[in-house]
Amino acid sequence: MKRLGITNQKGGVAKTTNTINIAGALADRGLDVLAIDADPQGYLTHRLGFEDAYLSDDESFYDAFTAPADYNIRDLAIPHAEFDILPSNIDMFHLEQDLIAAGMRPRLRLKSLLDDVDEWDVAVIDAPPSLGPINDNVVLACERLLVPVEADASSQLAVNHLLRQLDTLEANYETTIDIEGIVVSNVDYPLDNEQRDAMDWFDGRFGEHVPVWAVRRRVAIKRAMDSGQSLFGEGAEECDMRDVYATIAAEVADD
Ligand SMILES: Nc1ncnc2c1ncn2[C@@H]1O[C@H](COP(=O)(O)OP(=O)(O)OP(=O)(O)O)[C@@H](O)[C@H]1O
Ligand SMILES: [Mg+2]
Repeated sequence: MKRLGITNQKGGVAKTTNTINIAGALADRGLDVLAIDADPQGYLTHRLGFEDAYLSDDESFYDAFTAPADYNIRDLAIPHAEFDILPSNIDMFHLEQDLIAAGMRPRLRLKSLLDDVDEWDVAVIDAPPSLGPINDNVVLACERLLVPVEADASSQLAVNHLLRQLDTLEANYETTIDIEGIVVSNVDYPLDNEQRDAMDWFDGRFGEHVPVWAVRRRVAIKRAMDSGQSLFGEGAEECDMRDVYATIAAEVADD
């Protein structure tokens, strides 16, 4: 199973929106997809209509994260019309503290949970808005990362912080972490000067090595999520941003 992490510790840069639509685009290509909600706030789980799972007292992703050897995520995944979901759970609010208390090793728990899974072709993982140990778990579990950003100066700063954290993880875990692409999200044309500067910076910093995609602000994206699906879901309205997500999915699928 390929694993694609959608990560940026900065809040509100469309991690969850991109996870849902990239999962939808991959499923639209005929792939079996698992969307994993690794954010304790559970927005992906909520947006897709599974608040019951989020609030459930049953064994959950939290328990699996806490004791990976005792769980198989195929028992915790639930079906959605487009793809399967590993929902977040309200207990995940303890997870960051649990992992910090447990030291360095627990940063490989998500990787060990996913290593033997082959029910799906690809997992797309929505990371939380923090540089803490849950995010480290997502990064170390994924051979591919996509970084959503917004076209502003604070996103440039956030990317520099993220790159520093990736360097630290590479050194500590003797591994290579590759950014597969940058998704500049919620772009509004015409660009103002700050947005243009930011776009130029992302192109200059990454454009030579990895694709820099732009997803424009579209109410159709919000409306699709309001009805619990991606732009590729049954009955979702036409939207030009489907092409961008289809291009991202093609890159992920072919690689
Ligand atoms: N292309 C877009 N068009 C319209 N609205 C968008 C687009 N991308 C994101 N949004 C909206 O922007 C807001 C933030 O998006 P989202 O929740 O996906 O960000 P996030 O990075 O996951 O946030 P958090 O850091 O809180 O997890 C949401 O209200 C979402 O609906
Ligand atoms: Mg989110």
